[in-house]
This record gives sequence, C-alpha cells and structure tokens, in this order.
Amino acid sequence: MSLSQSVQSTSSPYSSRMETQLNFFDLFAGFSSAYKSFATEAIHVGQEPEQWKSMAVVPPISLSTTFKQLGPGNHAGFEYSRSGNPTRNCLEKAVAALDGAKYSIAVASGLAATVTITHLLKAGDGIVCMDDVYGGTNRYFQRIAVELGLKVSFADCTKPELLEALVWIETPTNPTMKVVDIKACSEVAHKYNKDIVVVVDNTFMSAFFQRPLALGADICMYSATKYMNGHSDVVMGLASMNRDDLYDRLKFLQNALGCVPSPFDCFLCNRGLKTLHLRMERHFRNAMAAAKFLEADPRVEQVLFPGLPSHPQHEVMKRQCTGCPGMITFYIKGKLEHASTFLSNLKLFAIAESLGGYESLAEHPAIMTHASVPENERRVLGITDTLIRLSVGLEDEADIIEDLEQALAAAVSNIQHWSTR
Ligand SMILES: Cc1ncc(COP(=O)(O)O)c(C=O)c1O
Repeated sequence: MSLSQSVQSTSSPYSSRMETQLNFFDLFAGFSSAYKSFATEAIHVGQEPEQWKSMAVVPPISLSTTFKQLGPGNHAGFEYSRSGNPTRNCLEKAVAALDGAKYSIAVASGLAATVTITHLLKAGDGIVCMDDVYGGTNRYFQRIAVELGLKVSFADCTKPELLEALVWIETPTNPTMKVVDIKACSEVAHKYNKDIVVVVDNTFMSAFFQRPLALGADICMYSATKYMNGHSDVVMGLASMNRDDLYDRLKFLQNALGCVPSPFDCFLCNRGLKTLHLRMERHFRNAMAAAKFLEADPRVEQVLFPGLPSHPQHEVMKRQCTGCPGMITFYIKGKLEHASTFLSNLKLFAIAESLGGYESLAEHPAIMTHASVPENERRVLGITDTLIRLSVGLEDEADIIEDLEQALAAAVSNIQHWSTR
C-alpha cells in the first residue's frame, strides 16, 4: 500500500471537519507586512546571466578549485575556491538581499557559522546565550568555547549587568517555542555597550518571516540545512550583516578557518531560495491548520505555536514577524507511552530529527534532539516525556490532519487497551 493510500484508508471522525482551508488574508492578519520585492529578489539578485560568458540563466556549478591569473596577482576576482567561488557568490548575494543586508557569507553548516562568528572574540571575552537554544549551540559554547578561554553564561540577556561581548539569541526557541523580542533585546544590549555583537539564530523563521538586522541585531545566522535550503538535502550555514568591520573579519575567518560549503551545495541552496516565499506561506497555512486541530483535541494537553492567540508571545510574534513557520510543539495527554505510540503510528510524518524541509517530520525532543540536556534541566525548560515536536511540511492539509488524528486515536486506544490488561 502506498503512503497516501495508507493515510487515506484510515477512517477519521475529523474528515468531515476538514473544511479548514484558511483564507490567505485571515492567516496573515495582524502580522508585519511582507518584505517588499522578496520573491523578485530571491529569483534575480546575484543571478544575472551577464556575469557568465555563456549568459547562463541558471548559475553554473563552478567546481574548479583554482582560477587562472593573467599575471601574478592579476585575476578576475577568484584565486582559490576556499577564499571565493562563483557559485557561492551567487548564493551569498541572494541571501544578503533576502536578509535586507549588505553582506552574507555561506559556510559548511549552521554550527560552522556559530564557530566562525565566535572567532570574532578573543580569550577572556564573554558570551551571553539564551538558556533555551539548539543543543549543538549549547554544547559548542559549554564544552569547546570555554576551553578556548571564553566566558559563557546562559541567562536572560535582557538583564544589562549580565551582558558580555556577544549576545546569542534564538527565537523562537527549540523546542519550547519561546519568542524573544529582538528589538528590545538589541536596544538593551547596545545601550549598555554599543560594541556588543547581537547575533540572532534565524533558522526557525527563515528570511521570509523575520529580519533580525532590521530589528537591531548585528548578525543574522542560519542553519541553512533547514528552511533556507528547504529540501533536506544540504547541510549549510549562513551569516548576514550590515557592518563593514564585521563582514571584513567574518570574510577573513571564512577563508582562514576553512569551513566552506561545496559549490554543489551552494547551487542547491541557491535553488531552494527561489521557492522560499511559496514554501513558507504553505508551511504557515498547514501548520496553522494542524495547530488549530491539535488545540481543539481533548487528547492534547497544550499546543505551543506562536501563530495561535494562546501562545504567550503571540503579540511579539505578530509585531516582529511576517508569519509563522511550520514548527509546532505540543504536549500529548498521558505519559511517555502515549507520546511514543503517537509517534510510532504516524504514517505521513516521518520520525526524524531536523526540520524545515518540504516533508513533514515528527520527533520526541526528550529522547531525540535534546537527550543530551540533563533531565533536571529538561524539566525546567518544559522538555518532558509528553512533549512532541512537529515540522509541518508542504503536503495536503487534509492528509496532514488525517495523519495526526489517526495517530492520536492509536495512542489513546492502545494505551487504554494496555491499562485494562
Ligand atoms: C536553531 C538551530 N541552529 C543551529 C543548528 C545547527 O545547524 P547545522 O545542523 O546545520 O550545523 C540547528 C540544527 O538543528 C538548529 O536547529
């Protein structure tokens, strides 16, 4: 049986309630206006056919590691592929435009972007990082950066006395979806010391829904592995900025540290950007439908989706973003068995780590992505046994909801069966 057949064959009491297709204007009501000419820039900036002798409309993949010079030091802008590559250039120009930035650099992964940015600091400098961030960021700061002589604290970075040379914000946070007011946070940091570098990890939002630089941040970084590429087939990182001094240093570090992405990955990510606006709109629509469905379901304890009025920072989200991505977390009623049974019974959603691709994924943060966080810290952060994270993809809305419904039904009936044995 095919996947879609197996989903469709499950009878659902909710099928008749599936006329939830949200009106486009209602969906975006109250959010910040979309960025002007976003789609046009995604498709055209950095892609000019005139830059190639062949006039290729689609940028070629430049695999050459080295470039011929007319005389020593007399080159056409490229010398060696680590320091500069034509395909990477196309991607970096497009990303800078989409972030409303002067510059962008592409590196080999989201973590490589974190490492490269951290190299702006010197031994003795301090980093203040929000307490609820991607586990790999936490691990890098706590277990590696401190070994290099950096002082790292995890705190509420709106408290000025705690501010250090680098402030690291992730919003919404992973997995509990807390939303940080970027403008307020950047203002506090810069008022305290204008040289503090405020970095926003914009991975969950993508450039289509949030522009941290316009809200006062100094660097906007991504794991492009997620929405920016959007097809779950590239591991990459990006960092955009307006300040010339930051760009000069990060461009130097990109080459000097050598964490560069391959030309083929640059080609794929550049291609992914061409449909970013279409994908994000659909992620939002599908996620809103799924979030509303889950919130209305008696088998669900609580839904954390910043697009819902019930989310504690819904107003901040509407003020600083143009919409919401496909990330939803929710607490299923019951115990670990209910969460596990729900996940094992999903047919359309794959149980997998990562997020932001065209396909729907589901995971159990306490067992999967956040297993390395000690249990007591997980409890404080709300990462309990019943917490489930969804990355809602681009499939048909009705099929997504059917799948959630049948997995909830399986979780509840199986558990009831077990408990009566
Ligand atoms: C919010 C966030 N930032 C950074 C990263 C690290 O990115 P990468 O896996 O591309 O190194 C991830 C990875 O999951 C992430 O979710």
